[in-house]
Amino acid sequence: MLQGKKILLGVTGGIAAYKAVEVVSRLRKAGAEVRVVMTREATEFVTKLTFREISGNPVAVDMWAPVQHWNVAHIALAEWADAVLVAPATANIIAKAALGVADDMLSTTLLAVTAPVFFAPAMNSNMYAHPATQKNLDILVKRGLHIIPPGTGKLACGAEGPGRLAEPADIVAALEAFFIEGAQLSGIKVLVTAAGTIEPIDPVRYIGNRSSGRMGYALAEEAVARGAEVVLVSGPSALKPPSGLKQFVSVETAAEMREVVLREAETSRIVIKAAAVADYHPKHVSEQKIKKNDEELSIRLEKNPDILKELGQRKRPEQILVGFAAETQNLLQYAREKIEKKNLDFIVANDVTKPGAGFNTTTNTVKIIARDGSIEEVPLMTKREIAKRIFDYVLQKGENRI
Ligand code: PMT
Repeated sequence: MLQGKKILLGVTGGIAAYKAVEVVSRLRKAGAEVRVVMTREATEFVTKLTFREISGNPVAVDMWAPVQHWNVAHIALAEWADAVLVAPATANIIAKAALGVADDMLSTTLLAVTAPVFFAPAMNSNMYAHPATQKNLDILVKRGLHIIPPGTGKLACGAEGPGRLAEPADIVAALEAFFIEGAQLSGIKVLVTAAGTIEPIDPVRYIGNRSSGRMGYALAEEAVARGAEVVLVSGPSALKPPSGLKQFVSVETAAEMREVVLREAETSRIVIKAAAVADYHPKHVSEQKIKKNDEELSIRLEKNPDILKELGQRKRPEQILVGFAAETQNLLQYAREKIEKKNLDFIVANDVTKPGAGFNTTTNTVKIIARDGSIEEVPLMTKREIAKRIFDYVLQKGENRI
């Protein structure tokens, strides 16, 4: 998976800098092209010459050095890279990256990068455990950067504990795994629905629900990250659609969602229905704003079509259909009934009464139930992480259909 990939390696000033030489060697053996940016401190541990020889490319250290042979300006380097790896990453570069400080070649390049970024921390275990470092790592993770955790053991400073740079083979394996995952759904069309539908009562009022769209948008983002052609059909949401979508369709009512979803599902290999579709709509929509004349007001509701059930009836053998179940009681029983009734391959059941789960939260906890009865329990985590776990499970179980 690394064949032809352009990897920009940032080396910072720690004793583990010598291990970065092996990382370069392994990356090149795996077919990657490697360019190296060193901090000035890193050159105290390993020379520029070593990295130049092992990478086969000039090494950038100084922002102001005259440009020779190739463009080492930070913007050019940032644009060139398919992925950026900082190994070893000291507490200092982690802090600078978290804050967006740009005071040397590497930190400035990191600010200009749009490619995926990996940090492999290496430092004294107290420095690693320090709340400032942990907070900074947390900021980087939330920003979507990847952390290759350090190993535990005897450190160069004599201390024992976490902080040892991950083994070069593991660092390269992490990059490989990323590119494999990134190509996993290449050429595969994935249809995702998100947010709640709204059903008008009159020109200014509607029946709606508390769905923010976060769960569905996270799923769409994860599908994009795995290389899929993603169509996201969303009810009203304050969220910005993820970048990289093939198509984004904004709808309001269940009827509008049904029309788009049934059409798009015909050419989709995976369909995931995270939207909270209204089960009923007002039978008559008043053309004028309803006046508050009476003490009581009745609105007659009529059942909406069950989009997921229709998808289940039309499902093709190679298609994977994933439904959601938002329940307040009897979670497993109701979810299992929905698998049968709607002819699903998987259902993601969330007990929306649990703190931090369900509607309008940034986190969720779910049980992913497969048609064969097996269950994957996913504890409380961000919706983005839940989305990853859903794809991991669905693709692993439905492997022979993708
Ligand atoms: O958007 P968030 O704030 O992040 O919240 C996420 C969520 C709680 C909305 C999400 O995790 C979730 O549970 N979505 C499904 C909500 C729901 O409508 O559940 P349900 O049990 O009522 O419906 C079961 C399934 O049938 C769902 O896949 C739903 O999309 C589908 N359905 C329901 C009714 C209908 N008329 N047509 C449908 O297709």
